[in-house]
Amino acid sequence: MFTDIKIAPSILSADFAHLGDAVKLISEGGADFVHIDVMDGHFVPNLTFGPPVIKAIRPLSDKPFDVHLMITNAEDTLEAYANAGADIITVHYEAVTHLHRAVQKIHDLGCKAGVSLNPHTPVSVLEEILPYLDLVLIMSVNPGFGGQSFIETSAQKVKKLSMMFEACKCAPLIEVDGGISVESAGLVTKHGADVLVAGSKVFKTEDPLQAIEDIREAGIKATWQSI
Ligand code: DX5
Ligand code: ZN
Repeated sequence: MFTDIKIAPSILSADFAHLGDAVKLISEGGADFVHIDVMDGHFVPNLTFGPPVIKAIRPLSDKPFDVHLMITNAEDTLEAYANAGADIITVHYEAVTHLHRAVQKIHDLGCKAGVSLNPHTPVSVLEEILPYLDLVLIMSVNPGFGGQSFIETSAQKVKKLSMMFEACKCAPLIEVDGGISVESAGLVTKHGADVLVAGSKVFKTEDPLQAIEDIREAGIKATWQSI
């Protein structure tokens, strides 16, 4: 049985002085998505990039742009991200009041919709919104910075989320973000994770493309062992 594990390198850990080169490298290499971490210095303490930067790098890649909005005013700015070239827009459960409306708007803009959960937020809060989602992003670190350690209990969250799919008769992609490495990849893929976001373990290595394949292989192997 072949399991497809997608790798979404996070350009948060790329060399910002050569951001375009980094996007090209992973897009022409093995990346399945380009993961773009938008931070506002408010919902999370860090500040990164917004629609103009996304628009500038859009022509450099033919891979889906997986835009992770760690911002408080996501509901008001979705259009700007869609126009900049986002394919998947993920908002935080903790930062959006009218989540159903935001998800609807993302779909109306022609994008796939995701919802992300901080480490302390239980997956049960997604019960009513789950049938409307294309993707659920489980944060396996506290959002805001790359290079943090994987929070081990995230694996159980992935398992619990997978178990909710039968009741909702739906199967959004499960994406896991934070501290993903060759060591932690299998801990979440064996419970049903489909997409692994990896920042520092891709870009802070000598060979980012090899790192992508090593993480993917570790993730796939763990799914064989769980059969
Ligand atoms: C954290 C971001 C992550 C981050 C992952 O807030 O959402 O995407 O870049 O970086 P690593 O893989 O280094 O934990
Ligand atoms: Zn992210």
